[in-house]
Amino acid sequence: MRILPYLALIGLAFAEDGLSGWLRYAPLPSSVSWPYIPHNIVVLNTTKTSPVYTAGQELQRGIQSILGQDCYVSSDSTHESIIVGTLDAYVNAYGNLSQTVDLKEDGFWLSTEGNTVQILGQNERGTLYGAFEYLSMLAQGNFSSVAYASNPDAPIRWVNQWDNLDGSIERGFGGASIFFANGSIVDDLTRVAEYARLLASVGINAIVVNNVNANSTILTPDNINGLGRIADTMRPYGVQIGLSLYFASPTQGVKGQANLTTFDPLDSEVVTWWTNVTSQIYDAIPDMAGYLVKANSEGQPGPITYNRTLAEGANLFAKAVQPYGGIVMFRAFVYNQLNESDWKADRANAAVDFFKPLDGEFDDNVVVQIKYGPIDFQVREPASPLFANLRKTSMAVELQVSQEYLGQQTHLVYLPPLWETVLGFDMRVDNETSLVRNILAGRTFERSLGGYAAVVNVGTNQTWLGSHLSMANFYAYGKLAWDPTQDTTKIHEDWTRLTFGLDQNVIDTITQMAVESWPAYENYSGNLGIQTLTDILYTHFGPNPQSQDNNGWGQWTRADHDTIGMDRTVSNGTGFSGTYPPQIAAMYENISTTPDDLLLWFHHVPYTQRLKSGKTVIQHFYDAHYAGAETAQTFAARWQSLRGKIDDQRFDEQLYRLKYQAGHSIIWRDAIVDFYHNISGIADDHNRVGNHPWRIEAEDMDLNGYKIYTVNPFETASKHHAVITSSNSTVGSISTTLSFPPGKYNIGVNFYDLYGGKSRFEIRVGNVTVGMWKGDSEDYLGHTPSIYLDGHSARRITFGNVDVREGDLLEIVGMPDGIEPAPVDYVVFLPEGVLD
Ligand SMILES: *[C@@H]1O[C@H](CO)[C@@H](O)[C@H](O)[C@H]1NC(C)=O
Ligand SMILES: *[C@@H]1O[C@H](CO)[C@@H](O)[C@H](O)[C@H]1NC(C)=O
Ligand SMILES: *[C@@H]1O[C@H](CO)[C@@H](O)[C@H](O)[C@H]1NC(C)=O
Ligand SMILES: *[C@@H]1O[C@H](CO)[C@@H](O)[C@H](O)[C@H]1NC(C)=O
Ligand SMILES: *[C@@H]1O[C@H](CO)[C@@H](O)[C@H](O)[C@H]1NC(C)=O
Ligand SMILES: *[C@@H]1O[C@H](CO)[C@@H](O)[C@H](O)[C@H]1NC(C)=O
Ligand SMILES: *[C@@H]1O[C@H](CO)[C@@H](O)[C@H](O)[C@H]1NC(C)=O
Ligand SMILES: *[C@@H]1O[C@H](CO)[C@@H](O)[C@H](O)[C@H]1NC(C)=O
Ligand SMILES: *[C@@H]1O[C@H](CO)[C@@H](O)[C@H](O)[C@H]1NC(C)=O
Ligand SMILES: *[C@@H]1O[C@H](CO)[C@@H](O)[C@H](O)[C@H]1NC(C)=O
Ligand SMILES: *[C@@H]1O[C@H](CO)[C@@H](O)[C@H](O)[C@H]1NC(C)=O
Ligand SMILES: *[C@@H]1O[C@H](CO)[C@@H](O)[C@H](O)[C@H]1NC(C)=O
Repeated sequence: MRILPYLALIGLAFAEDGLSGWLRYAPLPSSVSWPYIPHNIVVLNTTKTSPVYTAGQELQRGIQSILGQDCYVSSDSTHESIIVGTLDAYVNAYGNLSQTVDLKEDGFWLSTEGNTVQILGQNERGTLYGAFEYLSMLAQGNFSSVAYASNPDAPIRWVNQWDNLDGSIERGFGGASIFFANGSIVDDLTRVAEYARLLASVGINAIVVNNVNANSTILTPDNINGLGRIADTMRPYGVQIGLSLYFASPTQGVKGQANLTTFDPLDSEVVTWWTNVTSQIYDAIPDMAGYLVKANSEGQPGPITYNRTLAEGANLFAKAVQPYGGIVMFRAFVYNQLNESDWKADRANAAVDFFKPLDGEFDDNVVVQIKYGPIDFQVREPASPLFANLRKTSMAVELQVSQEYLGQQTHLVYLPPLWETVLGFDMRVDNETSLVRNILAGRTFERSLGGYAAVVNVGTNQTWLGSHLSMANFYAYGKLAWDPTQDTTKIHEDWTRLTFGLDQNVIDTITQMAVESWPAYENYSGNLGIQTLTDILYTHFGPNPQSQDNNGWGQWTRADHDTIGMDRTVSNGTGFSGTYPPQIAAMYENISTTPDDLLLWFHHVPYTQRLKSGKTVIQHFYDAHYAGAETAQTFAARWQSLRGKIDDQRFDEQLYRLKYQAGHSIIWRDAIVDFYHNISGIADDHNRVGNHPWRIEAEDMDLNGYKIYTVNPFETASKHHAVITSSNSTVGSISTTLSFPPGKYNIGVNFYDLYGGKSRFEIRVGNVTVGMWKGDSEDYLGHTPSIYLDGHSARRITFGNVDVREGDLLEIVGMPDGIEPAPVDYVVFLPEGVLD
């Protein structure tokens, strides 16, 4: 059999809007030469829904696009060939391989030795993984002769989408859902197939398509049919689908299902109800991967409502999916509201408190899904102690590719170095080496299940995540779930090569920015283990340290005038440190052995406490926030040095974000240092805090049609005030006469960009228009920061290289729009080399 060369889609592969992600298959530059690559692809399964068939298609497409070489797909191998199939199919057709190959589930064998290429999977999807690996080599201009087996470290490599049936995505920053709209599954699943392709290319084998804050209407017969279409679309890529369930579904009057008066997991009617629904689901999706359940957490119903244990709740579903080979991912994110005046209360204790007593009570096909840290995806957390406390329960880590607390994809933050602090952490279980990644793989406690889940917020945007550079987090997540020992810098280099080409300067520049990005973000958002000091009550984006305390959510800092930090010791605190195995517990119990970067996570100390660096806590805060913001200033400039080496669309879209980040990192820096300066009364050794010689406060200028506004939280406005137009329909202006030394300046204007309005602004210096802009970042940043003047809406826009004479008039004209009253905080005149 011969199939014609694969010629379609060539144009698509080069559309540089980000849609192809790292699978662009860009033609290699003419400087690269390569050895003979076979023209004949032998595909050992010609069923169109088989991942093996997909692998053949993908190889044909990739080789044509990367090397400009047409290949034929056939099922005979009389010529030198690329042979692609399962190892079993290969052995059936050709007999044993010359060497013994040890493949685990989903693994593959790749050999490019001689003039034949063998891509042989342990199963069908493993074959596809091998094909993607080979194509990744070709696309990177890597023609080494290799012959090796590659096996995943853990069987569970899932992603969780938090998509709602109405089409919105919880913490979604890349557009609406590609799966759902108006309460049901969308008709056009083109993007779903493309998403499956990206997932398969990095070894992800399952996806939970709906939000963990689930809705029972996912279980109507119509929606079950729709889910069947999603599964059919993803199956050729070896990606299985899973579902999040609403625990109380039996009582919700789900259309087409019985309506019960109870959801008690031990009630026989409830058991029958879930058995019935599960059988309907498996009728539509015979390979459904399993269920994901968030129960008795943040208002979700669960078994505790009926005095049943979480294990009894989990096992209800486990028994329903067990006959079909399905599994239940049961989230450990269970906690109660707490009273901050109780110094022993600690949300960080909740997971161990709830789950440790249940160890051994979960069915074998239950996997407890545990967030990497004990609180909630913070910029730095110690590894969750629960990983060391469940010896008879399978576990998966929950990571977040979605940058919920880490800049919402508008800040560049490369996350794998953060994940590594957890995956590589040694829990010292029984005083022996017990790395979290070995626990996840099931090696430490001899479990057959376990692995990885990551929350991903892919949406309809052409960039998938809203930001081109954030895609590195998605790519690296898959790579690390396959092999958590891989070097995260090397992963980023590979990703950059695939995404932006082989120019070494491009690879080095972007990778170096990525490597610096998480430390920079930690520095300006919250360090020494105090958590991301964002607004935990509203959107989790800009600064608002005060919101952490004086509420029941338990993300406390316990900052007062003299001291800060959570005392989580056994001796005098919440006892959290004692939930680790003895050697780790001893390390965290004492200030002297607690690493500085987690000091305030474990200890309540004076601001004047000395760190191992010799600095005080408060001076470290000041210095780190200045250093972090300074690093963030360099990103846009470094990116700009790549102009012309990256296609215009992706270049411009990313530049917008990096400029935004430069401004927002200053807002973070100033808010945090101002807040702790204010509360502690301790001066900055370098006299930077509260001292801004190059700024002119808007409230100090002549106001015409503008009025002064007191910003809340206070630290999110320079000198705590801004100005807004006197009415929301008339133009206003603010002006002053400049007395800076004459010369060239970079001028920054700090203003507030609310969603719900797009004010227009113009800045004039010496009667010359320097710039005009709109407060319309809601159209570009993919998230809705705030309808208030605060740390989420605060922005800086910068105009470079402006001639300023002494005595020039500075004037800003603001035209309000909607609820946005053209708010301005200050204007800053920055001589070359000055950052203020
Ligand atoms: C070929 O692929 C189909 C679809 O995935 C599968 O059901 C079948 O078992 C495969 N055949 C072989 C011989 O692997
Ligand atoms: C192939 O290998 C298997 C076990 O690895 C062995 O039992 C079998 O005899 C081999 N077949 C041939 C034809 O060498
Ligand atoms: C080429 O690919 C192989 C297989 O993935 C890898 O081991 C090797 O490091 C790569 N070489 C380079 C120069 O990247
Ligand atoms: C489920 O969705 C329906 C329809 O949008 C809504 O009325 C209901 O409140 C949702 N239930 C939950 C628990 O969110
Ligand atoms: C499952 O539930 C549906 C809807 O209530 C009902 O029509 C059907 O008979 C049930 N099937 C079984 C096997 O109980
Ligand atoms: C389903 O049952 C619950 C009580 O168990 C009731 O509150 C609800 O109104 C019923 N819904 C429908 C559609 O019958
Ligand atoms: C659960 O137990 C508590 C006390 O142990 C009792 O007060 C309550 O009524 C019980 N709730 C249910 C639903 O059985
Ligand atoms: C483990 O180490 C701790 C502290 O180093 C020590 O006190 C304890 O006796 C050791 N336990 C075992 C079982 O060796
Ligand atoms: C112990 O905790 C209390 C608060 O409950 C605090 O006032 C006291 O200073 C702490 N003592 C030490 C030695 O940390
Ligand atoms: C400012 O420029 C406008 C138009 O260019 C001109 O009419 C006006 O006289 C200028 N004002 C000053 C103070 O130079
Ligand atoms: C993608 O997002 C960017 C930035 O938010 C926006 O400018 C663009 O219009 C979006 N495109 C699509 C197709 O949604
Ligand atoms: C001004 O604000 C009011 C009250 O918020 C609103 O009703 C009105 O539509 C706004 N006017 C404009 C021009 O947006």
